[in-house]
Amino acid sequence: MPPGFRRSSSWKRNPTHIFKFIAAAFVLFFYFIFTVFGESPHAPRNGARIQWDGFINGTGVVDEPRAARVVEAMKHTFWTYKEHAWGADMILPVSGHKSNKRGGWGATIVDSASTLAIMELWEELELAVNHIIEGIDFTKTDDLVDPFETTIRHLGGMVSVVDLWDAGIIPKKVISREKRDKIVKQAVILGQKLGPAYDSPTGLPWPRVDFMTSKGVPDPRQEELQEDGKPRYAHPTIGPARAGSNILENRVLSRLTHNPIYFQNSTLACYYEYLLKITLLTPQDRYTPMYKKQWERAVHSLRDNLASRNRPSATYMTQHLFLGKRDDDLDINTQSQLACFAAGNILLGGAHLQKPSFIALGKALVEACHHTYASTPTSIGPEKWAWSPKFGVRDATVTPETERQQAEWANAGFWAINPSFRLRPEYVESLFYAWRITGEARYREWAWDAFVAIETHCKARYGYAGLKDVMVASSADGARDEAQMDESESFWHAETLKYFWLIFADSRVASLDRWVFSTEGHLFRMIR
Ligand SMILES: *[C@@H]1O[C@H](CO)[C@@H](O)[C@H](O)[C@H]1NC(C)=O
Ligand SMILES: *[C@@H]1O[C@H](CO)[C@@H](O)[C@H](O)[C@H]1NC(C)=O
Repeated sequence: MPPGFRRSSSWKRNPTHIFKFIAAAFVLFFYFIFTVFGESPHAPRNGARIQWDGFINGTGVVDEPRAARVVEAMKHTFWTYKEHAWGADMILPVSGHKSNKRGGWGATIVDSASTLAIMELWEELELAVNHIIEGIDFTKTDDLVDPFETTIRHLGGMVSVVDLWDAGIIPKKVISREKRDKIVKQAVILGQKLGPAYDSPTGLPWPRVDFMTSKGVPDPRQEELQEDGKPRYAHPTIGPARAGSNILENRVLSRLTHNPIYFQNSTLACYYEYLLKITLLTPQDRYTPMYKKQWERAVHSLRDNLASRNRPSATYMTQHLFLGKRDDDLDINTQSQLACFAAGNILLGGAHLQKPSFIALGKALVEACHHTYASTPTSIGPEKWAWSPKFGVRDATVTPETERQQAEWANAGFWAINPSFRLRPEYVESLFYAWRITGEARYREWAWDAFVAIETHCKARYGYAGLKDVMVASSADGARDEAQMDESESFWHAETLKYFWLIFADSRVASLDRWVFSTEGHLFRMIR
């Protein structure tokens, strides 16, 4: 069976994939409309008003003390990394050891830069930029390169800094024009090295690129899984949600270099013709209704097929709207923290399309994610949880098996399937959209609660660490080390801390009326 066929049929079965793709495409759609039609640097683009109007009366002012606490967290994580692991992809926050599983180009540095820039941490930004332009050789790496991860982190991080510079947010005193141009050069080198990813028989990007031979290759881990020993051409999960999200970064690189190749390649890689049409052909009035309908249909499908409330019990009466999954014909009543991103995306679309029902849906979904945080002993939500759906599940259902799971269920209406926490941003990201779009102060409070909880449990000697079990609150210092996981991915710097800070910042900073956030939290201008 050709890979394209397998993918498309699995898409039909799996509404989550469709939704992810449509979500990525939706963000892109805004981006293109705004890049083509944007004008003054201060007016909302294209007359779009995504952020709450009421902010103009001063309710969206900066919360200085809380914003300052987030900046302190960023400084702690940056400077411990600077001192102990500078140039490595990641620092291991408990042991202080280094990790280099992202190509060895200092992923933390590149991914941090746009956060440092909007926080106006100029000394730190200068160090980061100097490393990007002098300390990285993107033509060399010992590893096979994952083009998706590298595009969202490294390429996205670099072009975002250039965009922030071009928008006047980074002063020329801090980063000179010459340095700015050198960042573009590095982005071009990386973009070209990633080029072979698009030279594939399926039209979808290769899952890996070998920088030594400049060839796209299969994912080696997957080859091991193949029974007949034949290589697969694409990772089954590199669906258009992944490919689609890369178009954003490549489109900015094409804009900065006036070279359409990056954009063209990454667009062609997406076999969904309608996306190509929407993004390449300008008569948006012709395609907008179709596009809008598809996105709306995906949200309806998500609401009707994936979302479900927990069944009230004698011990826990409150109901929350969780987001399940579909696997073939089975409904699975589990949600991962990753899926909390959907709330923010539905709010963004609801605000733009002026759909109150979508705003209500997004708010309900973010409330459920909040519940998974607020009800645990650490005030941090688990990586994955399950609930007992109100109307039962058709074929398969996950039930509380252990005593502990039954106790959790009785106590809060859900139980942890994977009780760890990996410093993920998705819940905070959705709080950011909820706060900026509705202006309701509770979202700021929820963000503060989560921040304080992370500060209490995850702060480590060499940065911030994940937790093995959010259902166990250990306060003693020795016990805290034990409770932590010795890992800290660069999205902690790129996204989690950025969204925390933006929630407490002045609401005009990085306004959703003027900036688009990538899947890695890097922000791109809506203007040309
Ligand atoms: C903002 O202030 C103006 C003038 O006081 C008032 O008319 C308007 O209703 C306010 N808007 C909101 C959303 O509070
Ligand atoms: C564009 O795609 C072609 C294959 O169609 C590939 O050979 C080339 O390296 C790519 N270039 C870039 C900059 O992506």
